[in-house]
Amino acid sequence: MSHNLKPNDLDAHFMPFTAQKSFKKKPRMITGAKGMYYYSDDGREMLDASAGLWCVNAGHSHPKIVEAIQKQAAALDYAPNFSFGHPLAFQAASRLVAEMPGDIEHVFFSNSGSEAVDTAVKIALAYWRARGKAAKTKIISRERAYHGVNICGVSLGGIPWNRKVFSGALMPNVDYLPHTFNLKEQAFSKHQPEWGAHLANDLENIVALHDAENIAAVIVEPVAGSTGVLVPPKGYLEKLREICNKHDILLIFDEVITGFGRLGKATAAEYFGIVPDIITTAKGINSGTVPMGATFCRKGIYDAFMESAGEYSINFFHGYTYSGHPLACAAALATQEVYKSEGLFENAAKLEKTWSDALHTLKGKPHVIDIRTIGLMGAVELDPGTDRKYPDEMSRAMEAFDRMYFEHDTVMRFTGNTLAMSPPLILNESHISLLVERLGKMLTNLR
Ligand SMILES: Cc1ncc(COP(=O)(O)O)c(C=O)c1O
Repeated sequence: MSHNLKPNDLDAHFMPFTAQKSFKKKPRMITGAKGMYYYSDDGREMLDASAGLWCVNAGHSHPKIVEAIQKQAAALDYAPNFSFGHPLAFQAASRLVAEMPGDIEHVFFSNSGSEAVDTAVKIALAYWRARGKAAKTKIISRERAYHGVNICGVSLGGIPWNRKVFSGALMPNVDYLPHTFNLKEQAFSKHQPEWGAHLANDLENIVALHDAENIAAVIVEPVAGSTGVLVPPKGYLEKLREICNKHDILLIFDEVITGFGRLGKATAAEYFGIVPDIITTAKGINSGTVPMGATFCRKGIYDAFMESAGEYSINFFHGYTYSGHPLACAAALATQEVYKSEGLFENAAKLEKTWSDALHTLKGKPHVIDIRTIGLMGAVELDPGTDRKYPDEMSRAMEAFDRMYFEHDTVMRFTGNTLAMSPPLILNESHISLLVERLGKMLTNLR
């Protein structure tokens, strides 16, 4: 494997979510990957503490997944799924719905988490229309939410920087629950914080304001990931379910990060013992190997689309050229097989406590104001300080991330003031020790 593929010119690539001026002066260039490790263009082996972007759950370049994709590319590269079918899309659908809780028995394919969210919102609106309740169009989201970057996802999103520039084009009919984080009440909680279930009651106020007759769905990430791993307080998600049931409002769990093993179960829904009406997934569905999103729904929702239609009616005016792409489906089937045969969800569950205990040993290191963990997700929040002239100077979290890459051979995420981690599910205790040792060294020397 060559780790020396340096490009000559970095100018043409308009990069996503990147500080490009500084990146292009000093690139973090990844040129290879295997198992728990990335390889850099300067020949270093780097621990992947974030499974890429929370997605490579089966570890990098898994031979069985690679083989499945290669074989499929040679056998059937592409086939449309509009009024045609190819067997793998149906096989993948059956295999994937088997991982879902309760009567979630159907799945609609797309190419990303953002599209899975768009699809979920469209399913919710079309479902109520089919049921003769066309006024139910409002979507209730939450502050600090991340639901992807399409206009729908940004409209539902609650991270200010992601919305500001686009404010003129956002969807109407969205309202927001408060987020569940409170540093004073929750700092250094392990697992689910005791404080905060009452915040779900705000949904009652929102229902009183808009009237349930006008509300289609509530959407939440069961664990808010991209904003910095906010773990739901004990009893919070249960209350949301209860209030949605009471008012006949659909509950959507956005499980783009939590889906497929991140919490040691196939879904966070299963982990928390709650059956939402719709689940959105992507990323871990095929271990990040081929772009794929999937929106799952309960039987009653799918049935409404069928029952309201004639023999030749198109049931849902929605779909992407690459919905159910053969390569994505082949990768998904192989990935699910790897998860099962290698017991990767079980490994994540087994290591949950070790992971949590190890990260929490960083309490007391300079600048650390909170540590949050659940499943194999972790966050270390840093006091941003007042002496940095961001954006002309790196923020403290960005510097921490940059130093982990260049000085401590570790790839992770930073978001706001938080370092976020979500390793591949193949990790073992020695990887955890190595990561925490490197983080500890970096923090000790962080300005
Ligand atoms: C909860 C959630 N929803 C949606 C998305 C968007 O996924 P994608 O980047 O594949 O569009 C993400 C991405 O991190 C996510 O975390």
